[in-house]
Amino acid sequence: MDPSAPTTPARRLTAGDNLTTIQSHVLAVEASHPSQAGSLSWILSALSLSAKVIASKIRRARLNDVLGSLDSENVQGERQEKLDVIANETLLRCLGERAGVAIVASEENEEPILLRTNTEGERKFIVLFDPLDGSANLDGCGGVGTIFSILRHDRRAGSPEKAVLQPGVQQVAAGYVLYGPSTVFVLTMGHGVDMFVLDPAIGAFLKVEAGLKIPRASKSYSCNEGNRLTFPDGYQKYLDWAQHNGYSSRYAGAMVADVHRILLKGGVFLYPPTKKAPAGKLRLMYEANPMAMIIEQAGGKAFAGKDRILEIAPEDLHQRTSVVLGSPAEVDQVLAHL
Ligand code: AHG
Ligand code: MN
Ligand code: MN
Repeated sequence: MDPSAPTTPARRLTAGDNLTTIQSHVLAVEASHPSQAGSLSWILSALSLSAKVIASKIRRARLNDVLGSLDSENVQGERQEKLDVIANETLLRCLGERAGVAIVASEENEEPILLRTNTEGERKFIVLFDPLDGSANLDGCGGVGTIFSILRHDRRAGSPEKAVLQPGVQQVAAGYVLYGPSTVFVLTMGHGVDMFVLDPAIGAFLKVEAGLKIPRASKSYSCNEGNRLTFPDGYQKYLDWAQHNGYSSRYAGAMVADVHRILLKGGVFLYPPTKKAPAGKLRLMYEANPMAMIIEQAGGKAFAGKDRILEIAPEDLHQRTSVVLGSPAEVDQVLAHL
């Protein structure tokens, strides 16, 4: 799909339409794009099962006393919430059973985990994920999410550490789940973006929007302005410009919640380099890349400074990047100030 194609409204589905679950959607996409056929449908079904388990654990977290942090830190020296670990274990368990998954890699694990290798000619995948994004929001009952990225596994790449280091343009699918007032699953398999909502009465994600398009422009920016004085000059100038031009500021503090709002309503999400995080705070492989693929597939843009995020050649599984993504006209405004 050409990301610069003119934006047309997404097809909003109603009760009169056929009910399409994630599984039937994935099977239909694979049938119409045979080059993609393989075990993606099984992998997506593991991700949808994980999402249902994590959603239910989050909803009952206060009742089951699993809010709050652990004494442990993750590999990046960040405080781990109890639910970070529970969500990670849920994903590892669900994905671990799927024969099509060769390697999994998580924000919460230092190294990628090799589950099985593929034999000659067999197609297997690498799944990278941020099990719980925005987990610092949990105690305040704020929105949190799961982000995932799926790459092909090339057995000639050598070690799992090397095999995962592929640029975002090579993703075969990406998505996120937002655990908010409803549980929303947004997915791209490289042929546009579709949105599903969990119907708790029947336990299935049902398609509610097909071919989502991000608004071309919207006077709204999303960043942690507490860091503003340590942003590079260009970002500070952009914020001056936006504030002189009637822009609103919206920031949930969870990338999934902020990007979801921007996907539906337009605007721009920024996490620039800061004094505390000179290379940016967000992780390239399992935060920026999947979100960049979704935003581009919806007709938006995603940059790290002047570089297209999806073209960055990764050097490390947990490497960080700055991020500017969202409506094409709003991303252009930011880039014009850098
Ligand atoms: P995580 O909870 O997975 O570590 O991710 C947190 C990220 C992201 O969700 C959010 O956009 C950003 O951190 C918020 O950072 P600040 O608190 O620095 O604004
Ligand atoms: Mn995160
Ligand atoms: Mn996380």
